[in-house]
Amino acid sequence: MSKPRVIVTRKWPDQVEQTLQELFDVQLNVDDHQMSVSELQQALQSADALCPTVSDSINAEVLDVDSKQARILGSYGVGFNHIDLEAAKANALVVTNTPDVLTDCTADLAMTLMLMIARRAGEGERHVRSKEWTGWRPTHMIGTKITGKTLGLIGMGRIARAMAHKAHHGFGMKIIFSDPYPPPQDLLDSLQAESRDSMEEVLQEADFVSLHCPGGKETWHLINEERLAMMKSSAFLINSARGDVVDSQALIEALKTGGIAGAGLDVYEGEPNIAEEFLTLDNVVLLPHLGSASMETRVAMGMRVIDNLKAFFVGEEPHDRVV
Ligand code: DGY
Repeated sequence: MSKPRVIVTRKWPDQVEQTLQELFDVQLNVDDHQMSVSELQQALQSADALCPTVSDSINAEVLDVDSKQARILGSYGVGFNHIDLEAAKANALVVTNTPDVLTDCTADLAMTLMLMIARRAGEGERHVRSKEWTGWRPTHMIGTKITGKTLGLIGMGRIARAMAHKAHHGFGMKIIFSDPYPPPQDLLDSLQAESRDSMEEVLQEADFVSLHCPGGKETWHLINEERLAMMKSSAFLINSARGDVVDSQALIEALKTGGIAGAGLDVYEGEPNIAEEFLTLDNVVLLPHLGSASMETRVAMGMRVIDNLKAFFVGEEPHDRVV
């Protein structure tokens, strides 16, 4: 029997590409270019499975192409706001993602952002590299202590819980959160985490606010001018979730005027294009969407896609089916 034809839209880790080649008739993206709309459409017309990443926009224009052969989108990543799920359903496409395997790494990255911005690590590194450093002195580059402070989580899903664990057990932080679907009480007890009735209460009380909600229409600009103004002027905003959850212009204004003390960002509205003004501000740490970027995690994500495809092609329900 011939192997299913699978097209991946970006370069994946070598180990995963080798496994893909063993199992499927696979088309790799050797030069790792961003595929155009027409390339994505042709892929849907010529393969049984298309495997996009979170940086491919799989919208209705792409999905509504005629004469599709593809029956499954095996997405590499946990977020799926880059896929029009309604259009996928209307086109009878199964969609899968890769949850769980990137939880810890993404939480580690959120911790990295929090530590970097609180302790001015990006600024400090620039200072040393530019040879401006003249030596230790009591008032040089004073930052903010994180141990014992309050971490406010907007959304209390897998990644937020992992961050809460690290922050509470590693740094003695008090955890508060808002989530319409809170985790089980025993888990909250293990973190001594306290629920707040609204996101606004979390914003008002926290020293560090970390965002852990999905992207998409429902959370677009959830953190806007009004909500930023609720944060303490000494507080920091951490975003490792999705860029468009934050109104960038409002955040730039809050950072420029001292409305909040700083921000640590791994994701951006319209990434990879970043609002120019961020680049001029010292009180923001900017990373290039590295949440899941460890070799162990990226291999595990690829293997998770493969498991979903294998199940689908033998007629079983893929473990991580989204629609
Ligand atoms: C995801 O998987 O949704 C991340 O943003 C990429 O690691």
